[in-house]
Amino acid sequence: MRWGRFIAALAGALIIAGTASAQEKCMVCHGRQDLFRKTEAGRKLSLFIDTTILHHSIHASRQCVDCHVDVVAIPHKQAKDVNCKRCHYSGNRAGAPQGQMYDQYEHSVHGMEVIKGNAKAPVCQDCHGAHDILPPDSVASSVYKQNLPKTCGRCHIDIYATYRESIHGRSLADGKLDAPDCSACHGEHNIQRPTDTTSSVSAGHVSNTCGKCHGPVGVVAKYGIKTDRTATFEHSFHGISQIMQNMTAANCASCHGNHDIRPAGDPKSSINPANIVKTCGREGCHPEATPQFAGGKIHVDPTKKESGLVYYITKFFTILTLSTLAGLFVFILMDLFRRAKQARTPH
Ligand code: HEC
Ligand code: HEC
Ligand code: HEC
Ligand code: HEC
Ligand code: HEC
Ligand code: HEC
Ligand code: HEC
Ligand code: HEC
Repeated sequence: MRWGRFIAALAGALIIAGTASAQEKCMVCHGRQDLFRKTEAGRKLSLFIDTTILHHSIHASRQCVDCHVDVVAIPHKQAKDVNCKRCHYSGNRAGAPQGQMYDQYEHSVHGMEVIKGNAKAPVCQDCHGAHDILPPDSVASSVYKQNLPKTCGRCHIDIYATYRESIHGRSLADGKLDAPDCSACHGEHNIQRPTDTTSSVSAGHVSNTCGKCHGPVGVVAKYGIKTDRTATFEHSFHGISQIMQNMTAANCASCHGNHDIRPAGDPKSSINPANIVKTCGREGCHPEATPQFAGGKIHVDPTKKESGLVYYITKFFTILTLSTLAGLFVFILMDLFRRAKQARTPH
């Protein structure tokens, strides 16, 4: 009896000690500020872990070994990279968000480069972090809207530098959260090469992508910017050519740029009056462009008087079409009437 109780108590204590110390066991060494290892390049890499960072992260309730599954015995050998997909897959029971994003990542340019063995392409932790992972809407998250350009920019350095100076980059940094970060144009787990026809920034999709904000229900109205840009583009020569599947015709980005978009008033803008001849004259477009050629208005809404000649020509043709149709209608009516009358008169 006494022995039975003792054994039960001991087992309980061991279980508690076993679970409670799972982390402490690691921290005996990893709680020391002076724990380092040498990298292959000969640099000193700190192996000190600040547990408060982990405890403030979304994974606060996780044990070290939930992620570092290969650290099973102490002392241990060099650990492998963490595989986030142990818990993060669609249909998981770990309580991690469900969704298509995990499969999307594998089919994205990044996932495919990783599979090919490109060590420079990002795995989950390159975008999300390690012990400091937070939900995307948390302002300290590496993928929070205002932080994402810098996160992508670690690898896409030149693009980040250009983007930062654009109207979109500057507005986002100023706290205008409606302005696009990298993922608003590219997606996040489903990023594809622009040459891939399924990409949101491929020639055939750019106008829809810009149109999310610059189209009829776009957020840019709030900033005093017109929301007729996709409609006026679709009615333009370039837009119609695209609808006819001519992907070499200009799209929004051909004229405005992609990472260096600036308002027309900015002297560095591709659509600034001083630069527009050069923009139209780009290789493969209109090398013969002259100031007169490039002076034509691009975003023309034919239903607005301010569009000048286009408005009156459109008006003229609308009236011409309507009166022709009306005439035809009256003619048919009269004809029917005559036939009916003829049919009724006895022969
Ligand atoms: C006896 C001390 C000790 C204990 C206890 C210990 N570690 Fe380590 N750990 C080390 C040392 C030393 C290294 C560096 C190994 C090397 O030189 O490659 C290391 C490396 C690691 C690495 C790889 C870091 C990197 O990128 O090089 C991880 C991850 C890790 N430990 C996790 C853990 C976890 C999780 C636990 C608890 C289950 C744990 N360790 C317990 C000493 C310890
Ligand atoms: C949510 C998963 C997760 C948890 C929980 C976790 N780690 Fe890590 N840890 C990572 C990732 C991711 C890295 C980055 C290296 C990699 O990709 O494997 C990392 C890196 C490390 C490193 C290498 C040094 C460094 O800072 O990069 C050590 C040492 C380490 N972890 C120890 C621990 C210890 C000790 C605990 C528990 C207190 C712990 N980890 C909990 C995911 C986790
Ligand atoms: C042991 C299982 C496990 C592992 C391994 C793991 N996670 Fe998680 N992760 C979870 C769970 C569970 C949640 C949900 C936590 C909650 O909502 O409180 C979560 C939440 C998240 C979130 C926040 C989602 C949101 O919308 O709030 C992100 C981002 C995330 N994990 C990324 C990662 C990354 C990146 C790795 C690899 C370094 C990783 N996780 C490894 C279990 C895990
Ligand atoms: C190229 C960068 C990048 C890579 C690589 C990446 N993510 Fe993400 N992830 C993001 C961005 C950006 C968001 C934020 C989306 C948003 O704002 O809704 C996100 C969001 C998430 C979320 C939260 C989604 C939700 O609906 O709550 C989880 C979970 C997540 N990622 C897990 C992963 C996992 C697991 C991997 C690896 C298989 C991974 N991510 C790879 C950029 C990335
Ligand atoms: C860890 C580094 C890294 C991070 C972080 C990263 N990328 Fe990449 N990205 C790459 C590599 C490597 C390639 C493949 C380059 C190649 O083969 O042309 C690539 C390819 C791309 C491509 C296709 C490029 C082309 O020329 O076809 C796009 C678009 C892209 N990344 C956008 C992003 C965005 C947006 C983010 C942030 C959400 C991001 N990347 C984060 C490394 C990274
Ligand atoms: C306003 C929309 C928009 C935003 C914001 C944006 N991009 Fe792009 N990006 C594009 C378009 C459009 C292309 C396609 C250009 C082409 O057809 O060559 C592109 C192309 C790319 C490419 C591949 C081709 C190249 O130019 O090298 C990479 C890599 C890339 N973007 C990364 C990023 C990163 C990183 C960010 C954030 C710092 C970002 N983009 C922000 C629209 C955008
Ligand atoms: C996520 C929404 C969003 C997307 C996607 C987007 N924009 Fe914008 N854009 C904005 C916002 C918001 C502003 C206004 C910023 C300000 O005034 O501070 C803006 C400003 C502009 C301006 C300057 C207008 C002016 O009068 O100052 C141009 C030009 C522009 N965008 C073109 C584009 C093009 C071209 C694309 C696609 C390649 C695009 N935008 C994609 C939200 C977006
Ligand atoms: C053929 C070249 C061309 C194409 C294609 C084009 N634009 Fe423009 N865009 C211009 C020019 C030139 C201006 C300045 C004069 C004007 O407003 O007509 C302009 C003006 C703008 C402005 C206002 C900028 C300011 O500072 O006043 C926005 C926003 C804009 N365009 C967005 C778009 C979007 C979105 C698309 C695609 C749906 C697009 N543009 C397609 C040439 C083009």
